[in-house]
Amino acid sequence: MTGHDRGAGPFDPKDPAFLADPYPVFTALREQAAVHFHPGLGERGMHVVLTHAGCDAVLRERGLGRIWRDREPAEQFPAFNLLHQTSILESEPPTHTRLRRLVAGAFGRGHVERLRPWIGRLADRLVTELAQRLADGEPSVDFLAAVAEPVPVEVIAELLGVPQADRHLLRPWSNAIVKMYEYGLDEAGRRAAEQASVAFVAYLRELVAERRVAPREDDMITDLVAATADVEGRPSRLSQDEVVGTCVLLLMAGHEATVNVAANGLLALLDRREAWQQVVDDPALVPGAVEEMLRFDSSLQLFERTATREVEVAGTVIEQGRKVAVLLGAANRDPAVFAAPDTLDVTRSPNPHLAFGAGIHFCLGGPLARVELQATLDAVRRLVPGAVVASRPDRRREFVIRGLHELQIGSDG
Ligand code: HEM
Repeated sequence: MTGHDRGAGPFDPKDPAFLADPYPVFTALREQAAVHFHPGLGERGMHVVLTHAGCDAVLRERGLGRIWRDREPAEQFPAFNLLHQTSILESEPPTHTRLRRLVAGAFGRGHVERLRPWIGRLADRLVTELAQRLADGEPSVDFLAAVAEPVPVEVIAELLGVPQADRHLLRPWSNAIVKMYEYGLDEAGRRAAEQASVAFVAYLRELVAERRVAPREDDMITDLVAATADVEGRPSRLSQDEVVGTCVLLLMAGHEATVNVAANGLLALLDRREAWQQVVDDPALVPGAVEEMLRFDSSLQLFERTATREVEVAGTVIEQGRKVAVLLGAANRDPAVFAAPDTLDVTRSPNPHLAFGAGIHFCLGGPLARVELQATLDAVRRLVPGAVVASRPDRRREFVIRGLHELQIGSDG
């Protein structure tokens, strides 16, 4: 974001009041028009889409692609750029089709199902420890650090086969890298993102080399390494850099959003005692409650696309080369699709939220995230039914990835 007044435009992504609750702003904007131009986002500004139909159309439109442009100056960001040049999320067909088939294949090999009981036990153990600390007299415990973060980090690390001793490295690297997706990041933040990328790439190169020499069973890195081998004389299907890029993407995408859905969602539930009591009383409501957590306070608020030809979105022309962004949090509160959209309703059905996206980049990890979130919510409702928010949580100053610094919970029972 250079040369723009961030305050200009329909909303300010750095404004604490907006970040505290962006939804009334989205409602007011959506009532005016489905699409607005925001001059303060990106190098040249971009259109933002607020309706469910408009966002869905953007995500499915083949004339709007995820077109990666290296961060400049490129010599300052070699590792960050490499990770994104090789990323499934940043590619379009035919590269995307090839990468997605290989990654989906590795995912589909029963790994998620294999982990389901293990994930249940992990969530139970972490929530039991949290409950014990409360029982031992701690006035409150940070749910984010105690449960919401470790569940997805442990799970994605287990799935890929990252050794236990190294898992603590993942979240700090990932947190530093994803700050680059925010608007208006300062120079120190940009440097930190590159340093984390360098360390992450070096670490994965080593791990991939180890798996090549000593393949393992039940390990997704081994599966991805196998996908680099020449098969019956065909050229490599996945390059070495693509394996590293894919592993890093999975390790990051595998927890960033899930952590924040768990914490944003639990906060929203605990703040609404009636809804919370419904979930406590009836375990059958857990899957629906998780869908509502995904909808109600989306952890991923904005995704960009670039027009590869002139495209019309809800009556607005996006010229070739210009950007447009979907505001998923706004789409998920669109009254044209959701009755009483600002009410958290754990019995809402159907619930066609766009939290996992749509179209060719539709989230590959949705089934896994659902297993994790359901296990976590179920553990909290069983083991800490009297959970209460102990102090108003401090919200992260970021818009694109919406989350909390901590969520202190206590128990009134
Ligand atoms: C609640 C948690 C999650 C949310 C809300 C979420 C959301 C999303 C969204 C919205 C997209 C599409 C982005 C776009 O269209 O530009 C996406 C893509 C993706 N997600 Fe997730 N995700 C979650 C969890 C996960 C997990 C656990 C994994 C992996 C283990 C994962 C892996 C991916 C991958 C690989 C893609 C790229 C797919 C492609 O480009 O074809 N996600 N996710």
